[in-house]
Amino acid sequence: MCGIVGYIGDKQAYPILLNGLKRLEYRGYDSAGIALHQNGKIHIIKQVGKIAALEEVVKEDEMQGTTGIAHTRWATHGEPNVTNAHPHTDCGGNIVLVHNGIIENYTVLRQMLQEKGHTFRTETDTEIIAHLIEEFYQNGTSFEEAFRLALNQVEGTYGLALITRHEPGKLYCARNGSPLVIGVGDQEYFVASDAAAIIAHTRNVIYLEDGEIAVVSRDGFITKTIQNEVITKKIEKINYDLERIEKAGYPHFMLKEIYEQPRTVADAMRGRLIEEEGVAKLGGLNQILHNVLRARKIFITACGTSYHAGLIGEYMIEEYCRIPVEVEYASEFRYRDPIIQDDNLVIVISQSGETADTLAALREAKRKGATVMGLVNVVGSTIARETHGGTYLHAGPEIGVASTKAFTSQVTALALLTIMIARTKTMSAEEGRRLIKELKQLPHKVEQALKTDSIIQEIAQKFKDKRNFLYLGRGYNYPVALEGALKLKEISYIHAEGYPAAEMKHGPIALIDEDMPVVVIATKDSTYEKIVSNIEEVKARQGRVIAVVSEDDDKLQDLVDYTIPIPQTENLFQPIISIIPLQLLAYHIAVLRGCDVDQPRNLAKSVTVE
Ligand code: G6P
Repeated sequence: MCGIVGYIGDKQAYPILLNGLKRLEYRGYDSAGIALHQNGKIHIIKQVGKIAALEEVVKEDEMQGTTGIAHTRWATHGEPNVTNAHPHTDCGGNIVLVHNGIIENYTVLRQMLQEKGHTFRTETDTEIIAHLIEEFYQNGTSFEEAFRLALNQVEGTYGLALITRHEPGKLYCARNGSPLVIGVGDQEYFVASDAAAIIAHTRNVIYLEDGEIAVVSRDGFITKTIQNEVITKKIEKINYDLERIEKAGYPHFMLKEIYEQPRTVADAMRGRLIEEEGVAKLGGLNQILHNVLRARKIFITACGTSYHAGLIGEYMIEEYCRIPVEVEYASEFRYRDPIIQDDNLVIVISQSGETADTLAALREAKRKGATVMGLVNVVGSTIARETHGGTYLHAGPEIGVASTKAFTSQVTALALLTIMIARTKTMSAEEGRRLIKELKQLPHKVEQALKTDSIIQEIAQKFKDKRNFLYLGRGYNYPVALEGALKLKEISYIHAEGYPAAEMKHGPIALIDEDMPVVVIATKDSTYEKIVSNIEEVKARQGRVIAVVSEDDDKLQDLVDYTIPIPQTENLFQPIISIIPLQLLAYHIAVLRGCDVDQPRNLAKSVTVE
């Protein structure tokens, strides 16, 4: 949420910062700004809207400078306008900074600073940091000390990059709850809230931890805690390529990511299946294996799409491992004081590994003594680093704001975990082998499901102007209905609800008339006959039914308006296939409505505020 880029070195900073911002635009895009050191002054330029809008107002010859910071914003405090756009400054315009996160005690600090004579120009919480540093600096401390003291006063979260006229050869940064990475080049350094912004320049990075600051110059950097203890950081290598964060000929990242799923589903299981033994092996859990296998209760906590994957995990683990599972939104879990015991396992699921609520839930679970494992996509992210053990999804960078390939990878990873645990309980080797054989078919089946694209385009054309959609499913396909509805509302702004099909009778049925499209996931499983009855109920009220059906279904064609045939698989794996047409449906409807698919309004890819 919000993106930060910084540069210090010998090259012109502006193109580096601008390209970095473009890579981060998926994190927030309601305004953007850049600040550069120029002959003893700091030149700041800001604009409302996307990075392209900023580029339009910039005259490149005025953007000389080899040290600078930049920001793309997702507004929390203060509407998105030029004034509220970052960078922000102190009274003297000498301290210039960009910030991700939320300063919670900003009202108190603002009042205190106003009483001391500081003048505020914006409605943001961020601006107070600049004034607070100014205040300490005016009192005669070194700049570094003022920076540190100020951070000790603020409560809340921050990823921060700062330049100052007081020390033109330095770039300051800090992290608390909002990621910050330093890219190490040859006599040049980069700062970013996400490695994607700097990967074109270096693969060597240092991840700051919470409560750490870095003072970077062309010749090197020092890292300290905000308590002033010097710390030595390890340089880590980023292992993905630039082309993985580019569109590769697709009109949108989302479509590219939907089409990547045969590969990403395969990658999620690569090297993790031992077919002869009918078992899955998850190396990242070795240290905590005993606690994972012996857990008497499992909590799964996550947000958004990851939460929906968690619901599928619940069905899988309870069915095959017979361990009670509770799935909860991380935002609820973190505050409601859940009853967690030492022999409980908490699984946190997160694509980005940075979601503020999920991170807080993780910390709460650890505090209460649970073993915490992560299912995370972004390698080296905070959640990945803070869990006791975990499994990476290996889906590669997901740039489209609406999550697609991460979801199918999460479900795949949950299936592996289920098999791993179940094999130590009642699942036989034969059953394990059968499931693994089927798992290996999934990439091909996902590919088959993608072939429904042309039918879906036709359906999208027919229904694109509707104002409401209902999504129904049962069993393993119920969370798929929730996820399908979420995809549609996220990117097309059509109101959509997901429901367990039978529950429709208890309310949503009142909405059904000839104007209401109902998407039903009706693949052949043990609830098939029941869902056919639910479809009848919709049709009896003139609802328009779009049914996702198994390839060999010959019953529903005559009953519903449209069928989307997809391959059938084991019930527990079915969501990996069933979600594909729903992702495509949301995508095509959004494109036809002229929506910005990759950067839908008001949303952000990585929600680092609670
Ligand atoms: C945001 C994104 C969603 C995502 C959710 C959880 O809302 O727009 O696509 O599902 O955050 O994110 P996480 O990175 O923790 O999976």
